[in-house]
Order: sequence, then structure tokens, then C-alpha cells
Amino acid sequence: MSISTATNIAGVPLASYVCNASGPKCTSYEELAELGRSKSSAIVMKTCTILPRKGNPEPRLAHVGKNRLLQSMGLPNLGYEKYIGFSKKLKKYGKPVIASIAGFTLDEYDALAHAFQKSDAALIEINASCPNIKGKSQIGYDFGQMRDLLSLACDRGGKPVGLKLPPYFDPVHWDIMSELILEYNISFISCINSIGNTLVIDPWKRSTVIKPKKGLGGLSGETIKPIALANVQAFYERLMGQVSIFGVGGIMNGIDAFEFLLAGADAVQVGTSLELEGAGCFGHLDAGLRTMMEYHHFSSIAEAKGKLSYL
Ligand SMILES: Cc1cc2nc3c(=O)[nH]c(=O)nc-3n(C[C@H](O)[C@H](O)[C@H](O)COP(=O)(O)O)c2cc1C
Repeated sequence: MSISTATNIAGVPLASYVCNASGPKCTSYEELAELGRSKSSAIVMKTCTILPRKGNPEPRLAHVGKNRLLQSMGLPNLGYEKYIGFSKKLKKYGKPVIASIAGFTLDEYDALAHAFQKSDAALIEINASCPNIKGKSQIGYDFGQMRDLLSLACDRGGKPVGLKLPPYFDPVHWDIMSELILEYNISFISCINSIGNTLVIDPWKRSTVIKPKKGLGGLSGETIKPIALANVQAFYERLMGQVSIFGVGGIMNGIDAFEFLLAGADAVQVGTSLELEGAGCFGHLDAGLRTMMEYHHFSSIAEAKGKLSYL
């Protein structure tokens, strides 16, 4: 049986279902070039800000359990101008480059969205899961700020613009976000970002495991998969095929990727897998997904997408 894992996000073709997520191993040009040479179907760049950032004090990333990470990186990046340049240099790898942007004010988001519309990136992912105005919640959890952001970020040019969303836990929030996404013609969403403000304690040292924010950090890896799957399913139902979906969160093997396909994801991104296994993870994930598709007699992503049955 011939099986294809080719897919697309907002009409941009991807040669396979799995690519990297913004964050791990995608900050320097060398890391991005390695993704270019790997089996990742796209090159997603580290979230960039207007100015370069060193990020938070170390230790800021900890391995917590076998397939989990806790981090409070503080968006270390080289500044957006470097990533505009990288998007051009990376074209030689023949796969879509995806820019990820974050501002500390709405004007910064606006400037970044505008700048990447003129770059060689194929897609622009707005990281809506970062803190914006001090004393307010992150944009993704503040629907008033979200509306302001969307009215600035859409209509910036021809490139599809997407949103990287935090996890939502309440159906009303899925309803409100879906209405905003449809109202402002957002082309794709990537859900979910890591689960923010979680605490891991080392009981032997009687200590936190990372330094920033009294040990609070974003949790990623296998523990968050059920939350990510619920978010993908919720948006798949509400967006009715009008908006492409990247599933992200706890995808460690091909079976996990297949579960996201059943829940309605058009493609998936992996962060923790890449951090723990390195760029070889993309080949393993694609092979595992193919095995699951063959077992269920699906020959294409389109055939299998959303084919979750309910009891
Ligand atoms: C070390 C690290 C850095 C991250 N940095 C970013 C980032 O800059 N921008 C972003 O949108 N998400 C960032 N994330 C979140 C991931 O893209 C992803 O949404 C999350 O880790 C869940 O996926 P996973 O379980 O496959 O890791 C980061 C995650 C990790 C572990």
C-alpha cells in the first residue's frame, strides 16, 4: 500500500506531517540549517523579538522525568533582523520557512508582522502565548488584547498569518477564540504552547529546578498531550475546515502523531522530541505515523484527518 504523509498548512505544501516547533534547537543559523538537512517538513524559527535577547538567568531548562521539560527561557533570540536574513539563506533547503514573532507591545507585533510579510518566510506564526503589557495576562488569555492584536496583524500582505495559542481549558474560551479567528481570517493556528506557570520541586535538594520566577515554568512533553489533543479537537470542530491546524504538545512517537491526525490536525510540530532526541526524531516520527496509517488502511493525511470515532 502506498502511503503519503504530505500535507499543507494554509495552502503551503509540506512534504510530510511532522516539523519542528518554535523554541528548541532553532535559534542560530547552524541549528536552522540542521533542520533544513533533516526530515522536518518545514523550518520553524525561534520566536523573535524586535531586539536581541539573552533571556532569563540559568538554569532555565530542566529535564523533569523521562519525556518532559520545564523551562522559563525568556525568549532568548538574535533579534528579528537576523531571522529575516536567515529566511532567505534557508530557502536552499527547498522547504517552507516559518517565522515566529512576539512583541512586548501591540506596535511591536505590528512592526514584526509587517517586516516578515516582506521576508522569504512562507508562513508567519504570531506567538500569542507571551506576556505583553505588565500586569495583564498573556495575550492569548486576554480576549480584548487579542482582538487588538488581530486587527493589527491581519491584512499585512499576502503571506498566511497564524496564531500560536496557549492551552485553553474551558469550552467558552474555545468558542470566543474560534469566533475571533474566523472574524479576522486567521489562516492557521498552532496549539498548544507549553502549559505555563507550573512548578516542579526537587524534594532531595528541597529546591526548585529552574531559577527564574521562583521555579515556575512552561511544562512540555508527554504529560501535556491530552491537553493538546483536546485543544486540537475543540478548534477542529469549531473552525470547520476553514483554518489549518498544527497540533503541538507531547508528540514523542508516530502513534502520538496519528492521534493528532484523528483529532483533526493538518500537521504537527515537535519541541520536546527534538530537544531530547535531536533531528533524527523527524524520520522516526514519520515512519511510526506511516505504520499506524497502514494498520488503519489510510493512504493519505486527507483520508485520515478528523476520523476520530465517538463512543
Ligand atoms: C526550550 C523550549 C523553548 C520554547 N520556546 C518557544 C518559543 O520561543 N516560541 C514558541 O512559540 N514556543 C516555544 N516553546 C513551546 C513549544 O514550541 C511547544 O509549543 C511546547 O513545547 C509543546 O510541545 P512539545 O511537547 O512537543 O515540546 C518552547 C518549548 C521549549 C521546551
